[in-house]
Amino acid sequence: MSRKWTPDSWRKAEARQLPLWPDAAKATAVETEMRSFPPLVFAGEARDLKARLADVVHGKAFLLQGGDCAESFAEFHPNNIRDTFRVLLQMAVTLTFASHMPVVKVGRMAGQFAKPRSADTEEVGGVSLPSYRGDIVNDIAFDEASRIPDPERQKRAYMQAASTLNLLRAFAHGGYANLHQVNKWNLDFVARSPWAERYAEVAGRIGEALAFMEACGISPDTVPQLKGTEFYTSHEALLLGYEEAMTRQDSLTGDWVDTSAHMLWIGDRTRFEGSAHVEFLRGVLNPIGLKCGPSIKPDELLRLIDQLNPTNEAGRLTLISRFGADKVEAHLPALVRAVQREGRNVIWSCDPMHGNTVKAGSGYKTRPFERILAEVRQVFAVHRAEGSYAGGIHVEMTGQNVTECTGGAVAVTDEALADRYHTHCDPRLNASQALELAFLLAEELAAVRKGQIQAAAAA
Ligand code: PEP
Ligand code: CO
Repeated sequence: MSRKWTPDSWRKAEARQLPLWPDAAKATAVETEMRSFPPLVFAGEARDLKARLADVVHGKAFLLQGGDCAESFAEFHPNNIRDTFRVLLQMAVTLTFASHMPVVKVGRMAGQFAKPRSADTEEVGGVSLPSYRGDIVNDIAFDEASRIPDPERQKRAYMQAASTLNLLRAFAHGGYANLHQVNKWNLDFVARSPWAERYAEVAGRIGEALAFMEACGISPDTVPQLKGTEFYTSHEALLLGYEEAMTRQDSLTGDWVDTSAHMLWIGDRTRFEGSAHVEFLRGVLNPIGLKCGPSIKPDELLRLIDQLNPTNEAGRLTLISRFGADKVEAHLPALVRAVQREGRNVIWSCDPMHGNTVKAGSGYKTRPFERILAEVRQVFAVHRAEGSYAGGIHVEMTGQNVTECTGGAVAVTDEALADRYHTHCDPRLNASQALELAFLLAEELAAVRKGQIQAAAAA
């Protein structure tokens, strides 16, 4: 696509899933005001993330992306931010150990507010109201006034994102992310897990490795990298008016950067050809993600890759597959082959959440943990068979002890879903389930590493 790109060129394309603001002039006024708000991230940070992601493309690092389905105004609390950050770090340490590779940590945090919906309206007890589209658009309460889209909410979302990001930066660099500490948290988790024996080996060996390093004089006191970590933010770039307002020209290069987050992705419902969302994201320099669900065809995927990454830059594009455990086999191999055949530099990340949503007997929307694991295993198997690299995982999770997904070692039952079902949108893994997933992923990554060693020995 060689058409000229401008931050507002998306306005001429077909935009799905955008709210119909009842007062268009008010929406324009809010967007105009937001154009002068400080950027949340810098172009240089987005470039750094792209460089880290290029290592993932080349099989030298692994991408861990996770956080809420939808951040909310109600759940805005420092403890929630801390606990999600903490579980992501615990997962990352486990994965680093297993893969012997750096793990690039990207939160679905500090801006993940807007939600695409499968239906425009929601019906409860014979009453039909506009669907909830995330706190950045309307309120989840089921009454007429709450569901009216209000553009002013975008400013509150921005403020919450700024404050969340500020805390994340402090956690990442202010001592909280000390590697020794993170492993202590893991040991504590393992001790409480019914699968303690299975996990103890990994956590114990990480502890041994740290003790060995310390004996050699490598400790958080001597090597600052062990004291802090790099942590990036991301969200679905759905509300294009908001994203446009946050898009600025880099003073050094003249390039455009969406300063609302380091990484942005396009959802499965808005990645069709001719989409305004594709048009918008093709023009910003940030690393971007593209959700790939069962309806995407190999040719279509290749055309989208051409539009979003015409120079085939490694680290620019992450394909996030999300088929459902029973559909991976039917869809993923053809896509992987097309990408391999055309030599496109992409990361293949696995979102095992969005294709595995079911309605429990109790009426709650849930995701059985075993299906989530099954999708992960199948995705790894497909990449292994195709000689491709399964380079990342994308999960909806929280550090809180919620009961939203069924199963796991401390089994959440259908009946227990009602206990602590707090999500504002899709069901998330709780802290234990998220860590359990990391330990199982560690087994897959260790197998990949063994395969590489064997291949090298045989060569
Ligand atoms: C999401 O990530 O919350 C989401 C809506 O995903 P998808 O676009 O894959 O359905
Ligand atoms: Co979701």
